[in-house]
Amino acid sequence: MKFSIGYSIPKNQTLVLFAFESDTAPAGLPQKKALIQEAAALGFKGKENSAVVFNPKGASPSKLVILSGLGVKKNAGAETLRRATALAVKRVAALSQKSVSILLPQTMADLAREAQSIAEGAALAGYKFDKYISGKRDRGVTQGTLIIPKKTDAEVKKGLKLAQVFSEAVCFARDLVNEPPSRMTPIEFAKLALEVAQKGADSGVTIKILDKKKIEEMKMGAILGVNIGSNEPPVFIHMHYKPANAKKTVALVGKGITFDSGGLSLKPAESMETMKMDMAGAASILGVFKALPAIKPEVEIHGIMALTENMPGGKAYKPGDVLIAMNGKSIEVLNTDAEGRIILADALAYAAKLNPDCIIDLATLTGACVIALGSLVAGAMGNDDALFDDLNSASQSTGEQLWKLPLVKEYRDSLKSPIADLKNISSVRREAGSIIGGLFLQEFVDNKPWIHLDIAGPAWTDRELPYCKHGGTGFPTRTLLTYLLNIR
Ligand code: BES
Ligand code: ZN
Ligand code: ZN
Repeated sequence: MKFSIGYSIPKNQTLVLFAFESDTAPAGLPQKKALIQEAAALGFKGKENSAVVFNPKGASPSKLVILSGLGVKKNAGAETLRRATALAVKRVAALSQKSVSILLPQTMADLAREAQSIAEGAALAGYKFDKYISGKRDRGVTQGTLIIPKKTDAEVKKGLKLAQVFSEAVCFARDLVNEPPSRMTPIEFAKLALEVAQKGADSGVTIKILDKKKIEEMKMGAILGVNIGSNEPPVFIHMHYKPANAKKTVALVGKGITFDSGGLSLKPAESMETMKMDMAGAASILGVFKALPAIKPEVEIHGIMALTENMPGGKAYKPGDVLIAMNGKSIEVLNTDAEGRIILADALAYAAKLNPDCIIDLATLTGACVIALGSLVAGAMGNDDALFDDLNSASQSTGEQLWKLPLVKEYRDSLKSPIADLKNISSVRREAGSIIGGLFLQEFVDNKPWIHLDIAGPAWTDRELPYCKHGGTGFPTRTLLTYLLNIR
């Protein structure tokens, strides 16, 4: 959705207004108490996730009004506004209207963030992956006008710009995840990465794409092992953004399994249904790189993405095989479905060699994380509390939730192998699966400050969320962008 700014309320366009519980007038319209009374007569109490649509009877700023609830004032934040806007915009879409105006409620201290939250909620709620549905496509609500006081112009414009860039990055990441797996192969992904890099060339973005031959030369035996059962060659992508004023270097590392069948440790049919999403970590990094030229954070960024299918072809790697990662560590493979940690072994070792100030990896790594934290929360593990705090504070403003899990060092013993440096699954079954995944990855970061985000739950949704209908969510693209912009 495209957003513009207006300074007065258009009479002939549906107007979205917000109100907290117990507000006596809509936020930003203190003189219009009658609107709250009319809404209350329709059952509106200002509760979160509630909205009413009505034609106001008395003197009204517009013909049709939607009042959307913000809940209890002291609990509200950016995410409240994002969701309340999304709900209102979905109502407008249900009325088959193409445009909407939204009154800036001025309930947040930071009006740039307020405008950003509103525009993100609106843009993300409208996303649909419908390219394979035949017939005429419904574009939904395509035009928004944010009604603001003139003096807030500069701040609001800043927020709207960020919202547009962030939303585009998220929708791009969602597209990558939603694309069917036989179409979004490692090579297709690499073509898109090349396009993103070319568009960012003037802003300091470069790219190296390592094909199978180069991956062999680099001795990335872990990625090659996972790839060998597939007919699609692997691709290793290293994107780089280097602004002149960079103070720090961050390496982002993404799991890019374009389809996870489980390999010979084959997944049951139902678990395989959504496994095109197993490249969501890499997709999110490509989303970040798409946004960089427009927001130019003052930080050097490496984007490292390891892409391959995990398939059970005739040559497939087998339980009992030993793979040697590029840093020389050997891995005994006992379950070919724990492939994410294997490809990340090479990717993290590669990242550590770049000597960044920190490494953040993103991976749909374990079903155990979905059991532990559900489908809305990512598990965060690592060796650096300050880095966690920075990511966590970004996550609190984006609404993309994280929860810290401990890397219990005693559990490391369960990864000991009698014939290799470590094995890829624990000898203790059904315990602390996500932590075990984190402990495995830790072996490859060379003690660099590092956080692992297990996004197996929130990268995908089967249920309709406030601003994501179904499929890839783009998690945690907005959090990464916010984190990168906050680095000083
Ligand atoms: N890609 C899966 C993890 C996953 C599960 C992501 C559900 C999203 C939703 C991963 O490669 C995997 O299969 N992990 C195994 C690890 C086990 C064999 C130690 C799992 O979670 O069962
Ligand atoms: Zn797997
Ligand atoms: Zn996987």
